[in-house]
Amino acid sequence: MKQEEKASGFGYGTDSIKQTGKHATKTDSFSLKKGNSKITVDISKRREMSESPHYNKYTISKYDLHPGYLFPELFEHLIPTSTPEYVDSGQRYVERIIRALYYFKQCALIGPSGTGKTHITYLVAELTGLPVWEVNCGLQTSSYDLIGRFIGLGKENWIDGQVTSWLRFGGLLYLDEANMMKQDVATRLNPVLDTRGHLVLTEKDNEIVARHPYAYLIISMNPFSSEFAGTKPLNAAFRRRMSVWINFDYESVGEKISSQEVELLIKRTKIDEDTGYKIIRVGAEMRRQYKAGDLPYAPSIGDLVHWAILIKDGSDPITAAEETIVALTSDSVEIQGDVRRLIEATFSS
Ligand SMILES: Nc1ncnc2c1ncn2[C@@H]1O[C@H](COP(=O)(O)OP(=O)(O)OP(=O)(O)O)[C@@H](O)[C@H]1O
Ligand SMILES: [Mg+2]
Repeated sequence: MKQEEKASGFGYGTDSIKQTGKHATKTDSFSLKKGNSKITVDISKRREMSESPHYNKYTISKYDLHPGYLFPELFEHLIPTSTPEYVDSGQRYVERIIRALYYFKQCALIGPSGTGKTHITYLVAELTGLPVWEVNCGLQTSSYDLIGRFIGLGKENWIDGQVTSWLRFGGLLYLDEANMMKQDVATRLNPVLDTRGHLVLTEKDNEIVARHPYAYLIISMNPFSSEFAGTKPLNAAFRRRMSVWINFDYESVGEKISSQEVELLIKRTKIDEDTGYKIIRVGAEMRRQYKAGDLPYAPSIGDLVHWAILIKDGSDPITAAEETIVALTSDSVEIQGDVRRLIEATFSS
């Protein structure tokens, strides 16, 4: 507490970030002014792991991923906010991912499209307070984008790429569609992914960038995408560097209907229970067919939510499906016909 003599009025200080000893603290200060005197009170709070309203739904408090460290304010906007909860039926995916990061710094998520791999990565980052550096390996990502390059003439202005920034400042690097990564990129990344690894910037006078102590990594991939162009089995050296592999699947598939998934749909859209069940049944059957190679796409819970929203808005289920999951599945008239028949059969029962 400190006392100061200043002008009158009621003042309210701004937040400031201070880093001290073992635990980082956030200092809130506010002052009360009366006549010629002013009292300023500084309250030091220990850093909260997360402000997410979902924090207490998961048992993760013992896994602090950056004890005593606050990421520079410059990167605060990279820490996700308002990520919706992740629903599962007892697999404890959130806990398992955070535990893997805590012990091994990195883990791999495998599952078909739409099972929530990207969603859960953002949720994990929000719950643990990590800035996210995201790289989609399926796009034509070059090693310049990942590592960095000089801009303009000469060797004056170097800009770090995503991976170099992540190494320097820490946070969570998310390599999406990692099995679509180009070989030259994988070769550069391999030494970095040894958990204590570093990167040598051969393009920049061999500068060595060490891996920040709080630099974590999640890679994700789709096991079924091998049927599609551009994918190949994950590079073996890369595979060896991942200690924990977590498999994702749809909550409802084929005959298996998850009541949690129905509840989630109802909660998000306020649709009635009977319609909710029918929508999930259609989704589950489409997912079964997708996994058997008979459909090119399977709806995620997010896609089914869109369908339900239009029904809730007053559209009949078949018309609402035309604009959402029928069109989404394929451009092919035959495939659209198959999906339409499945929906009609389910809704006429
Ligand atoms: N278990 C779940 N709980 C809540 N929402 C979920 C869950 N699974 C998927 N979703 C929702 O489904 C949609 C698709 O999820 P997401 O994009 O994360 O899938 P993905 O596994 O990353 O797919 P892809 O392999 O195509 O990138 C999102 O709207 C996400 O919020
Ligand atoms: Mg994704």
